[in-house]
Amino acid sequence: MDEMKDCLRILTYPNSALRRKAESVEEVDDELTETAWEMVKTMYLNEGVGLAATQVGLGKKLIVVNPTGEKEDERILVNPSIVERRGDLEGVEGCLSVPGVCGTVHRRTYIRVIAYDLDGSEVEIVAEDFFARVLQHEIDHLEGMLLIDRMTPESRIEVRELLKALEEGRPPANLGESVE
Ligand code: CO
Repeated sequence: MDEMKDCLRILTYPNSALRRKAESVEEVDDELTETAWEMVKTMYLNEGVGLAATQVGLGKKLIVVNPTGEKEDERILVNPSIVERRGDLEGVEGCLSVPGVCGTVHRRTYIRVIAYDLDGSEVEIVAEDFFARVLQHEIDHLEGMLLIDRMTPESRIEVRELLKALEEGRPPANLGESVE
């Protein structure tokens, strides 16, 4: 069995498609459903806790998340929207679309999200701490926002060289080598 067969390609920084705002899903059709399940598989194969459609080049409001890796915590959310937010907590984040980069990001500690599942039923999710962070990160992707936009100034300085390498298409392995 070829595990990577249904794995989608994840776009990486600085691909401009990551900066596009996603459109609302008007109708959940077979194609969107198939893509959603491919995104779930892609998330697991890349050991991620979430993936947004934006990251696989689909400009639709669709995210998949699983903050624990346990099957029962897997969620596919269509048109997710944060309707309530409270608190502030800093934490370290990474992103499959910005490989090798991680840094401190402030997020809300508590959020309430309204979304739809693949059956078109409305779902409400109340999330705190890590799960809330994952949801905020993925919903940001749908707005064309990346974690580097929200990093603390200290973290931004720390990742500056890594970002430059990504922008210039240099492999991360070359980092640290002297530059003439
Ligand atoms: Co991300």
